[in-house]
Amino acid sequence: MAKDLTKQQETDTGNTAQLLEEGIHHVNNPVLDLPEIVKNYLGPAIGFHQENNNYYFTDGSAGVEIKVVSDEIIRVRLAPSGQFLEDFSYAVPQTDQHVALYNFEENEHTYRVMTNTVTCVINKADFLISFEDREGKVYNKDHSPMHWEENPDFGGYYVYSTKLALSSEAFYGLGDKPTHLNLRGRRFTNWNSDTYSFQFNQDPLYKSVPFYIGLHDGNAYGIFFDNTFKTYFDFAAEAQDQTSFWSEGGELQYYYIHGPHMMDVVKRYHSITGTHYLPPLWALGFHQCRWSYYPESKVRDLAKNFRERNIPCDAIYLDIDYMDGYRCFTWNKHYFPDPKKMIKELADDGFRTVVMIDPGIKVDENYWVFKEGKKNHYFCRRGDDYFMEGYVWPGRCQFPDFTNKQVREWWGGLYKELLEAGVAGVWNDMNEPAVFGRGTFPNDVRHNFDGHRGSHRKAHNVYGMQMVRATYDGLKKLSPKKRPFTITRAAYAGTQRYASVWTGDNVATWEHLRIGALQLQRLSVSGMPFCGTDIGGFSGEPDAELFTRWMQFGVFSPFMRAHSAGDTAEREPWSFGPEHEALNRKFIELRYKLLPYIYSVFWEHTKYGFPILRPVTMMEQHLESNIQREEEFCFGDKILVSPVLNPGQDHKMVYLPVGDWYYYWDDTYFEGGKEHNMETPMDKMPMFIKAGTVLPEYPVMQYVHEKQIESLKLLVYHTNQKVNSYSYEDHGDTFAYEQHIYLEKKFAVKGTPSGMDITQYVDGLYSEKYDTYDLHLIGLPFQVKRVIVDDKPVAFEQDGRARYIVKVSKDFRSIAIT
Ligand code: GLC
Repeated sequence: MAKDLTKQQETDTGNTAQLLEEGIHHVNNPVLDLPEIVKNYLGPAIGFHQENNNYYFTDGSAGVEIKVVSDEIIRVRLAPSGQFLEDFSYAVPQTDQHVALYNFEENEHTYRVMTNTVTCVINKADFLISFEDREGKVYNKDHSPMHWEENPDFGGYYVYSTKLALSSEAFYGLGDKPTHLNLRGRRFTNWNSDTYSFQFNQDPLYKSVPFYIGLHDGNAYGIFFDNTFKTYFDFAAEAQDQTSFWSEGGELQYYYIHGPHMMDVVKRYHSITGTHYLPPLWALGFHQCRWSYYPESKVRDLAKNFRERNIPCDAIYLDIDYMDGYRCFTWNKHYFPDPKKMIKELADDGFRTVVMIDPGIKVDENYWVFKEGKKNHYFCRRGDDYFMEGYVWPGRCQFPDFTNKQVREWWGGLYKELLEAGVAGVWNDMNEPAVFGRGTFPNDVRHNFDGHRGSHRKAHNVYGMQMVRATYDGLKKLSPKKRPFTITRAAYAGTQRYASVWTGDNVATWEHLRIGALQLQRLSVSGMPFCGTDIGGFSGEPDAELFTRWMQFGVFSPFMRAHSAGDTAEREPWSFGPEHEALNRKFIELRYKLLPYIYSVFWEHTKYGFPILRPVTMMEQHLESNIQREEEFCFGDKILVSPVLNPGQDHKMVYLPVGDWYYYWDDTYFEGGKEHNMETPMDKMPMFIKAGTVLPEYPVMQYVHEKQIESLKLLVYHTNQKVNSYSYEDHGDTFAYEQHIYLEKKFAVKGTPSGMDITQYVDGLYSEKYDTYDLHLIGLPFQVKRVIVDDKPVAFEQDGRARYIVKVSKDFRSIAIT
């Protein structure tokens, strides 16, 4: 039987004033004369039955389902009425995709659902659920039984889970929250919001990713609360020993994801929500954006400047002003008389054109998109059946219901003409959805929700995701051989299957540079790997120093794009005088040199689900001291950077995880496991390569594929251990990799103080275009006497930096250096 613990549990809902501000009106407060809340808690568990990998428990009226999803993932669902909702999720396309062995035990006090890795224990007396490893170590445990409250606003239930928070526990994840990496002591709301010029700690922002990682005693687990309604998280903020998550509707449904490594938690989260597909290589280059580059002469001038000044760039963006009166899928013919010709000429010069598409469709009986949408009933309607209308850039607009499959298909097809004109990528914005004046849609707006009809309360947080899904699917269908490039501002968990993301309208301040560094690390561990900030800050004016420091951070942002608002001064890499132009060039060139490495890190993400950016705490999660470190992070597992985040900073302390490292700029050796005081003149940012790494480097190119690689440079850093590096190559733009048309190379390096061996293993069907590698052997603690490649001695030379340089066949199997 469910029992009523109303009063006793009041602290769960916290501070009344704050909650009222947040719009939650369910706290028992006699002064304000609010209705008394009645919370129902699960009573003792009194029975169960099993259907395959699903175990069903009951307290006599409410039901709980425990589903074994895989060896390491268990899903929990609560049905207050005993009736489960239909199993449907936008985040998790398939729940039963992993084969797992599972087992069940019942004893006097508990039920136990066991896999090879995890045991889910249900305490009969109080229905508390906990998750243990096979040794009986508890990773996560309920503080109170799952509970719910009749929803006075619209029926259904508010649903709650309250877990124990250990005193040493730290929390990570939750998408784009602009706060410290460790979420402990804070509470958050997920409700996608257009938040121009947001501030540190502002909440919510544009994205909803209800997934977090808990870390205690060096062990990590994840919780993914798959609920699209407005959700809330409290990480030991109201009560130091409790972490709660709850929602204003829908089902209490969450996945427990076992670690113990944070990397594995993220990887397993991706195993259910999907990874980002491999981006086209050009999308990893530098992108230049502004609101807006128009008319055509301005765009051409921009492109000419990049090439004349020898500053690499792969993409130019057209913001809303390219359209005719902001009507999506049209061109302003006055500004762009012949888009196809312009885009072709830009492409001939190595530039891809990316265009903005917003969800608001102008109400205009002479506009074909509006007419089609209206005729086919594709636009969202209010509860009383009137159309959902609101003002956005084009003026009065209606909005497609992207949660309807038919609408998505229609929308995807609308890109046909843009693709025929040569457009290479699409930028979806304002899809929280944003509406001038009222913020977003009213809650009564109806959505199809792929047949699981509901109001905007349920669909709001997935609206942007379904929009960019329609875009992605459309581009893929229209041009099946090419990997689409899409970017979205709003997102829900799982959006990584369809798009890259940026952090929205930030500000040109040092504080925002720091916020950006936190947000990208967070997005990366929250399953949104391909993320970037508006380099330089969207609103406001950066000075030369801030812009260059942001560009340096941009090199190590998975998505590298400079963008600025229309009312700001010109913001190109050369806008701050010759000295800073040279600095900005140097760092954009660095991005292009590192492209083969960056691409390989993306491949590891696509294939295995590893994050691109990794906070140091993820590299050394057993060290509590790392929880405070927020400035240094790894890009992949071989490069550690610590961007300069303060004005006038000429040195900074940088912590290196245990192991051996080399300073990228001059090959100096540094010992890990401690902090180093690094000089940070404007032309350097702290950047270290892990010992034993084989780092592929491209020559500087002005755009991806500009040059044929004659011989691939491999920087090999000496180690006294055994270290593997992976390097990935393919066509760069097609889905042929899904048919194994790629090369995945493993370089195994084994070193001692007097020698080093390198072995190469190659897998895949792609043929690279070059024949040789130029090895640069770095940090050798001995004088090289011989280099033997596949049993034959080869010549080597030494350069001015004490590197040994050897040319070898790209097909070498093993190299011995003594
Ligand atoms: C929004 C976007 C911004 C864009 C502007 C105009 O503010 O976040 O990136 O430039 O709209 O389209």
